[in-house]
Amino acid sequence: MPRARLVAVGSALPERRLTNADLAKMVDTTDEWITTRTGIRERRIVDPGQRCSDLAEAAARACLEKAGTKAVDVDGIIVATITGDQLMPSVANLVQHRLGAVNAWGFDLLNACNGFVAALSTATCFIESGRAKRILVIGADVMSAIIDYEDRNTCILFGDGAGAVLVEAGDSQGHGVHGFELHSDGGGAAELALPGSGTVPHDAKAAVFQNGRVVFSHAVRRMAEVAESCVAGLGLTGADVDLIIPHQANIRIIEATAERLKVPMERVVVNIDRVGNTTAATIPLALAQADADGRLHEGTRILLVAFGGGFTWGACYLTWGR
Ligand code: ACO
Repeated sequence: MPRARLVAVGSALPERRLTNADLAKMVDTTDEWITTRTGIRERRIVDPGQRCSDLAEAAARACLEKAGTKAVDVDGIIVATITGDQLMPSVANLVQHRLGAVNAWGFDLLNACNGFVAALSTATCFIESGRAKRILVIGADVMSAIIDYEDRNTCILFGDGAGAVLVEAGDSQGHGVHGFELHSDGGGAAELALPGSGTVPHDAKAAVFQNGRVVFSHAVRRMAEVAESCVAGLGLTGADVDLIIPHQANIRIIEATAERLKVPMERVVVNIDRVGNTTAATIPLALAQADADGRLHEGTRILLVAFGGGFTWGACYLTWGR
């Protein structure tokens, strides 16, 4: 069985910064409250007219360039997002056309903050089954489009961005995805939701609603559980993890996950301070950050772990590179 190896990562962030000081002028909050409760100092926000597909395309181009791969050699494009330009066509199809990836199929995948782990797991199944050789896995979200900037419970958390990873078929014994685990619990549906985003009538603009305390306690528990269970399922422990790349929702959730695995924070990639929670983009953006910081090498042992709306959560253990 071929192994799904992750060979390159690219990212795209809007230029515009929204700092805690900016938010303190918009809602009743302070830099001190946001920093201590979440770890976020600023986030990036798109300019008017800049779409999810624009960020996804830019991240994909950066990734292909880094990999030295032509768009025509890509078989598939999976975009994890909850903020696509439109429900139809998919962002994946827009990106496929703009890249000139004429041999690629593509679809979007809705799994909120766990979207990238779910998309990577899906790509892994295509590669392991021999049905695809090269898949672009993209996490992209324009959260600013679905945030109520009068709601201090949510507007301080989210930002916009995209990241893309090229996943290739490689040797069964080589680097790549060694295991993953995915979970859902629709019992948490009402605690973190986007009313007005579907076909159920709603009398206001769609905006993220969350019961922060409930989501927080589930996120801490589930991220720690799945992180531990994913590595244990492979006969490994936290000592076998060089880098944890967690979903960036709150620094306190990230710290609790690392603590459960007994992995020191020096081995955890954190960029929430600069970009906030970009939903499906957090993990590939953090991977790109690790790459830019010289922390991604051939064989680096990585644990991805995420939790999000649904509820949905998952983890993936991999070794980096060709
Ligand atoms: N500034 C100042 N005060 C605030 C703010 C703010 N921006 N927001 C809330 N408060 C107040 C609350 O009103 C509350 O006041 P009260 O005690 O008088 O009622 C007080 O601060 C404490 O509120 P809590 O909700 O208990 O604060 P908490 O420490 O839980 O932090 C937070 C809130 C940051 C939202 C946290 O609960 C959290 O991170 N939750 C998880 C978020 C998450 O993981 N989301 C999942 C991913 S999103 C996705 O999947 C799309």
